[in-house]
Amino acid sequence: MNIKDVKVLITGGNSGIGKATAKLLKEKGARVIISGRNEATLKQTAKELNIDYIRADVTKEDQVHFMVDQAKVKMNGLNTLVNNAGYGYISKLIDIEADKFTDQFKTNILGATLCAKESAKHFIDQDYGNIINIGSTSSLKGSPTASPYVATKFALRGMTESWRNELRPHNIRVMQVNPSEVMTSFSDNRVDKNISQKKYTEAEQNTKLRGEEIAHTISSLLEMDDRGFITEATVFATNPKT
Ligand SMILES: NC(=O)c1ccc[n+]([C@@H]2O[C@H](COP(=O)([O-])OP(=O)(O)OC[C@H]3O[C@@H](n4cnc5c(N)ncnc54)[C@H](OP(=O)(O)O)[C@@H]3O)[C@@H](O)[C@H]2O)c1
Repeated sequence: MNIKDVKVLITGGNSGIGKATAKLLKEKGARVIISGRNEATLKQTAKELNIDYIRADVTKEDQVHFMVDQAKVKMNGLNTLVNNAGYGYISKLIDIEADKFTDQFKTNILGATLCAKESAKHFIDQDYGNIINIGSTSSLKGSPTASPYVATKFALRGMTESWRNELRPHNIRVMQVNPSEVMTSFSDNRVDKNISQKKYTEAEQNTKLRGEEIAHTISSLLEMDDRGFITEATVFATNPKT
């Protein structure tokens, strides 16, 4: 599709990957709405990028319903969802806490489902749409102490495949982007217990992915003519120093 025709709702658009995506798509002429829970960063990002925002928690069905409805009203249409809101609960198996584990699934999986569900209703009605789920290389491989987060991202990949099969007859392209490590607030927002986090030097950070590379990937996926689509894209830093 032509990026100038994109009318996109980006969840978690007030930070990191979502914000970089909002910026790039806006610069390329798309209509963009961001959402998140933090009013202050939403307001600040919306002002910075000259776009609109809707405050919504993706785990709350009534708020997601309102968010999708308002996005349609504000942009006079909606044809793309970037399902990006999420965080990581990192824990050793033997330390996993049931409520934190459940909350992890609530945001990364139920949240993504509710956003896709509300958007898909509209996309089916108009017989067109795009859903881009932000997975992770944790959708493809497990790693020690990361099983709660990995479980959500493997689950998301299964949902992407299922929604893709279900929605293709309605001209809806369901795609997934799997970033490896990206230098955002993700590591600061991790929920974990007793897991030490490596602090990267500035030189190390400069070799790792930024939100911009993921934004570029999302824009490229959308740009292909609607006749076809790339189902999944995995993004690595070329030569990260750790
Ligand atoms: N950074 C990485 O290394 C990396 C690698 C692979 C995949 N990812 C994935 O990329 C996505 C974005 O992460 P990021 O790196 O950009 O991290 P980030 O900077 O921490 O951004 C996370 C975003 O999610 C939003 N969010 C979290 N819970 C929410 C909820 N319940 N309702 C609505 N919004 C919610 C946050 O906004 P509020 O706090 O305002 O709600 C924030 O905008 C996540 O799905 C993450 O799993 C990240």
